[in-house]
Amino acid sequence: MPQSENLRIVLASRPEGRPKPENFRLEHVAIPAPSDGEVLLATRYLSLDPYMRGRMSTAKSYAASTEIGEVMTGGTVGEVLESRHPDFKPGDFALSHSGWQSHAVAKGAELRKLDPSTAPLTTALGVLGMPGFTAYAGLLTIGQPKPGETVVVAAASGPVGSAVGQIARIKGARAVGITGGPEKCAYVRENFGFDAVVDHRDPDLVAKLAAACPNGIDVYFENVGGHVWDAVFPLFNMFARIPVCGLVAQYNATGEFPGPDRLPVLMRQVLSKSLTIRGFIQREFAEAQGPVFRQEMAGWITDGAVKYKEDIVEGLQNAPEAFIGLLEGKNFGKLVVKL
Ligand SMILES: NC(=O)c1ccc[n+]([C@@H]2O[C@H](COP(=O)([O-])OP(=O)(O)OC[C@H]3O[C@@H](n4cnc5c(N)ncnc54)[C@H](OP(=O)(O)O)[C@@H]3O)[C@@H](O)[C@H]2O)c1
Repeated sequence: MPQSENLRIVLASRPEGRPKPENFRLEHVAIPAPSDGEVLLATRYLSLDPYMRGRMSTAKSYAASTEIGEVMTGGTVGEVLESRHPDFKPGDFALSHSGWQSHAVAKGAELRKLDPSTAPLTTALGVLGMPGFTAYAGLLTIGQPKPGETVVVAAASGPVGSAVGQIARIKGARAVGITGGPEKCAYVRENFGFDAVVDHRDPDLVAKLAAACPNGIDVYFENVGGHVWDAVFPLFNMFARIPVCGLVAQYNATGEFPGPDRLPVLMRQVLSKSLTIRGFIQREFAEAQGPVFRQEMAGWITDGAVKYKEDIVEGLQNAPEAFIGLLEGKNFGKLVVKL
């Protein structure tokens, strides 16, 4: 039976440190009606991503904060229920940014139609979507891996990290992954084909990472920061490139980062090793590289050069708990909520 109400999750309050369930509120509201040029979508899949932690805070960032009482932001795959746009009809699927809710009205011109016969719909939120593109654009544009070089990436079992390592190998580089726990380490080595994997929870992380990178590090794709950065930093080669993509270990931080001030040592290394450190937000590259990415990545998936793993949680009401776990490594693969 079709649902008669829109189920949605709004930001109830701003978290201090680790988000808690009470920072979110589940609401039942009326399903909106589309105007000319719009479609009504029923959300089938919602993407949960680390960047959402930033939207819950008021700290200055590249994107506006979610307001208290506003629907949590998020990428979605929706099914068209009603269309007032000529390109869409009921039953079509579309990539949208409808957020944490079961129904939404969207402008047809802002949607990308998806064909479920060419790729599973969930991949539009993962390997063929924003996270896969982040890996592709950040690694190839800033990291520029060369054959025989060593590329290191943490959060290596997730959608960004797993794609970084696999693309590095396609380009002839050696991929070294860092991830949390033996199960994830084994998966990254055996299923994603990384050349070596190190567990960041291992008390011997520094020595194990050095042993996994006998020729030093040429590209470090920074996803996490924190204690992983401390282990990576001494291993940089001359002219190493460091795309700074994310700092998930720091997203829930409250006070100052513990330990000594690292800046003077970092600046000395930047100078003496001619390091390139460049932050980026994937959308900087989206217009120029999006279409070629989708084509190339689809080809790599078809020929088996790139594999992906998804972690699918059932039910919108379970999104807050799943999201809280994402920031602590409880997800295993691209985290998606099925509605
Ligand atoms: N710049 C951009 O445009 C852009 C776009 C998309 C994503 N990103 C960033 O890319 C990174 C990866 O995103 P994703 O979607 O692929 O996430 P993900 O890997 O699915 O999830 C985050 C992972 O981070 C790891 N982690 C959490 N706390 C950690 C800690 N203290 N130390 C080490 N690892 C920790 C956990 O994996 P383990 O179990 O392996 O520890 C967790 O599973 C994030 O920083 C995200 O913000 C940036």
